[in-house]
Amino acid sequence: MKVLVTRQIPERFIEDLKTVADVEMYHEKLKAMPREELLNESQDADVVITMMSDQIDQEYLDHCPKLKAVINLAVGYDNIDVDYARDKGIIVCNTPDVLTETTAELGFTLMLVTARRIIEAAHLVESREWKGWEPYLMAGKDVYRKSVGIYGMGSIGTAFARRCKGFDMDIMYHTRSRHEEAEKELVAKYVSFDELLKTDYVVCTAPLTKETENIFNKEAFQKMNDDTIFINIGRGGHVVEEDLLEAVQNGEILAAGLDVLRQEPIKEGHPFLKEKNIVVLPHIGSATVETRDAMIQLCVDNAKHIVNGEEPKTPVK
Ligand code: GLV
Ligand code: GLV
Repeated sequence: MKVLVTRQIPERFIEDLKTVADVEMYHEKLKAMPREELLNESQDADVVITMMSDQIDQEYLDHCPKLKAVINLAVGYDNIDVDYARDKGIIVCNTPDVLTETTAELGFTLMLVTARRIIEAAHLVESREWKGWEPYLMAGKDVYRKSVGIYGMGSIGTAFARRCKGFDMDIMYHTRSRHEEAEKELVAKYVSFDELLKTDYVVCTAPLTKETENIFNKEAFQKMNDDTIFINIGRGGHVVEEDLLEAVQNGEILAAGLDVLRQEPIKEGHPFLKEKNIVVLPHIGSATVETRDAMIQLCVDNAKHIVNGEEPKTPVK
């Protein structure tokens, strides 16, 4: 069987897999496999380990007659047409659980960094413009004891809420279905989407689906308070970026911290680059060495199970 890995991962992870399958790996670490090459190399593959930057759409799935499984190195799988894969009997796997705490931690960091204007403050020092102490120099907004509205209370949202509890925050959430454990453990309160928008920190941790796409739009930002800080660790597609920019520039909200954008990497000249109240990170939610190791290992384990005719460990249900 042939297993294709669409990005370079450390050799040590695939040594074992190589004893049971032919493993082919794209030679680039930084660059996604060009579409043509991806299609060509996948045509005779039985299993493919993909990245978020690979579009696994109908054209791709129709192009690969032998394909048994697509294993995505991410918890999100909005780059994959899961319904179409299912219709064709192709298994889709992701990497849940192993990245939960790390991703929540990045989200919490981004909330603190944005609230306390850390990036702006560090730039002030770097640019030699720091002239001395002033009563309101880089004065930000408190986090402790403020209200937080978590959109999407899956495992990452819950891990985020647990950190909020440590800061004595008033935790609210909105999600498709209620999460009674979180309500009990974290004293989190289920609220309507509109109520969620009224909190000090609105935090998106949801997966991107047809229902959640563009949910943070002009109407949503207008309902927020003028000192709300918006944090997104979900997907860029949740946010209408022009509407967010307008909301920040017009003072309809205070600031935003984004780990994800509609188009990654950010395009030269993107207006967010000039807006000091919008902090953008390069999609690093799960980026710690420990967690990336665990995610890669899980993908390889899933591939091995499939090659051996066993149930994969983490199929998308
Ligand atoms: C990262 O965004 C992931 O889905 O794992
Ligand atoms: C946000 O307030 C920032 O620019 O750091």
